[in-house]
Amino acid sequence: KPIVLSGVQPSGELSIGNYLGALRQWEQMQDDYDCQYCVVDLHAITVRQDPKALHEATLDALAICLAVGVDPKKSTLFVQSHVPEHAQLGWLLNCYTQMGELSRMTQFKDKSQRHANDVNVGLFGYPVLMAADILLYGAHQVPVGSDQKQHLELARDIATRFNNIYGDGEAIFQVPEPYIPTVNARVMSLQDATKKMSKSDDNRKNVITLLEEPKSIIKKINKAQTDTETPPRIAHDIENKGGISNLMGLYSAATGKTFAEIEAQYQGVEMYGPFKKDVGEAIVSMLEPIQAEYHRVRTDRAYLDQVMKAGAEKASARAAETLKQAFAAVGFVARP
Ligand code: AQP
Repeated sequence: KPIVLSGVQPSGELSIGNYLGALRQWEQMQDDYDCQYCVVDLHAITVRQDPKALHEATLDALAICLAVGVDPKKSTLFVQSHVPEHAQLGWLLNCYTQMGELSRMTQFKDKSQRHANDVNVGLFGYPVLMAADILLYGAHQVPVGSDQKQHLELARDIATRFNNIYGDGEAIFQVPEPYIPTVNARVMSLQDATKKMSKSDDNRKNVITLLEEPKSIIKKINKAQTDTETPPRIAHDIENKGGISNLMGLYSAATGKTFAEIEAQYQGVEMYGPFKKDVGEAIVSMLEPIQAEYHRVRTDRAYLDQVMKAGAEKASARAAETLKQAFAAVGFVARP
């Protein structure tokens, strides 16, 4: 089976953007791929986190992964800091990555502006650690939202470069491919459809979290940005109708309806209210089973511990093998 690796940061409550861009695919890929999924706490500390909040958010994210249907019997589910090989290969790859390459990363530019008082080296090197996450497992496919496409291209470049220097005709690292959904690869902020929905957005009106109360979801969708077209029209047109198009993406994800079907459903309605009401209710229904399962699993710490322990062991065994090869390739003496 082709190998898959993907991660999610415990940097706040996971959003429907994280779900539709990535986690939903995680669940769907399990039967056809050999999947490794991780809660990437090492990545989360590139932005200052409150220790207690990070601790809880890590367990929350793990429980969410289980609640959306990641099955630890089929997939390897683990916490990144439990597998030290990530940091070890990350260091090695730092030495095969150019400052100029990292300076071009749009996420770094964006986050270094948002966190101008703490532009730390880890934030700059984030994509290198992400490359290590992927290359350690020989991943063929990486299911991510489109915001991660640039990082994935860098991971490909680093892998190719390393293979060219040390591979001697054979690849040490598998060069990974992005696996990006065709719809909802970039869920936008509810109040600003030019900006992606981010779990750590200070303006909470922009974000719907996977654990959000139904009332709050309905309210946020009701207040979501639309447009002033007269008469109001439900149509998918990202350029001119970003807000409506974003809501249509969410509605489509929650109901399975195509954009054409949604347009037909509201033809002649000439108001945004009824559409928004339906979108809100559809999201509530989509999240209901996930929330119920989350609450069941999150309170079972013994089970979470068991998942983390087994996941880390499985992940470490594979990661250690790749790390050994990479260390040998650069000329490190193996520990006797
Ligand atoms: N708005 C989005 N639409 C579609 N996919 C998204 N992803 C994130 N936002 C959207 C995808 O979710 C996965 C996990 O993301 P992450 O936790 O690694 O961090 P991120 O990309 O930095 O996401 P956030 O929510 O914006 O986190 P913060 O606010 O902490 O920076 C990834 O596959 C990502 O593509």
